[in-house]
Amino acid sequence: MPARELKPGIFWVGVNDRTTDLFEGLWPITQEGVTYNSYLVKGEKTALIDLTKSIKAEEYLSQIEELTDVAKIDFVVINHMEPDHTGLLRLFRKLAPQAVILGSAKTKEMLRGFSGIEDGVHVVADGETLSLGGATLKFLSTPFVHWPETIMTYEESQKILFSCDAFGGYGALRGTIFDDECTQPDFYEKEALRYYANIVANYSARVLDAIAKIANLPVDIVAPSHGLVWRRSPQRIVDLYRRWAECASGKTEPGVTLIYGSMYGNTERMMNAVAVGISQAGVPFEVFDVGRTHVSYILPPLWTRAGVMIGAPTYEVKLFPPMAEVLTMAVSKRVLSRKAAYFGSYGWSGGALKEVKRIIEPAKWELGETFEFIGSPKREDLVKGQEFGRRFAERIKSGG
Ligand code: FEO
Repeated sequence: MPARELKPGIFWVGVNDRTTDLFEGLWPITQEGVTYNSYLVKGEKTALIDLTKSIKAEEYLSQIEELTDVAKIDFVVINHMEPDHTGLLRLFRKLAPQAVILGSAKTKEMLRGFSGIEDGVHVVADGETLSLGGATLKFLSTPFVHWPETIMTYEESQKILFSCDAFGGYGALRGTIFDDECTQPDFYEKEALRYYANIVANYSARVLDAIAKIANLPVDIVAPSHGLVWRRSPQRIVDLYRRWAECASGKTEPGVTLIYGSMYGNTERMMNAVAVGISQAGVPFEVFDVGRTHVSYILPPLWTRAGVMIGAPTYEVKLFPPMAEVLTMAVSKRVLSRKAAYFGSYGWSGGALKEVKRIIEPAKWELGETFEFIGSPKREDLVKGQEFGRRFAERIKSGG
């Protein structure tokens, strides 16, 4: 994509990535894509804010060359060291050896490990400003959004917040970088939530700290390093991030995520009965087959909703392995204090329920009713399953 001007002298020069299959080598983005947004600020001096992953270097550099001579760039701001934003740093250093790298003290430390760079690095303090002549950058310490070294950069004259991972989302750009020109806002908000649940959620307390820190900044544009640039509604993405961060302390929605796995269709038959009951209670809910759905897509509703209905058979005297993986990841991502229920089929001895309890115990999930049956569910089992689902959903609806 060609460079786009955000405000006079400030440009998006990022990379639209539609070829990487797994973000962080872990989270699927084959269908959705992702962007690595980089920004060029031109005053009397010139600064680049964040770079990109080490792909499409020629395209990236030629975008910049249309605006300025890469070799004469004065500063590179490293808001965040993760290689999706610094992958091209070593190449950039060769092309513009005089450019001073700006970042936090922790960034200076990490630069050594990730890039072997020690010279030409200036550590910026929290609140420090840098005049470029016609533009002024202010650096804000926002650790752990998403790594410990992270800062945000604020351009004072045009009121643009370069927030890096914060307020970012998956989703390649579809012809525009701006929210006010985008015709599919639902796609980007959904992908921002998936990105939040996958990447940022673990650090929700730090997200709230960062949001508090920028509360009194006049911000005309939120320019993150992934996804849309928020020009019409900069507050919209900040409010969404606040709402998602508050889920960490229990401010979840009264809805249910039904996750299930099935070997021969027995637990699936029961799942359908349980789903009828949940549906009758009229709470929002979604159903995921854990054997066929990457956990990346299951984490968002697990993160935002209060109830988790778990349906999985016993497998070799343990829990059906894909369910164990999903629950383990949820606990690892600090999906805490959810209300849960469990159902599942077993052949000759149980074991799944014991493992469910063991996995969710550290996350303090409140396991209520459980319901197991031998082999395939009988008619009376399915009737019981429907009632079991309805009771659970009513409990979630009432906040109990
Ligand atoms: Fe976009 Fe934490 O890197």
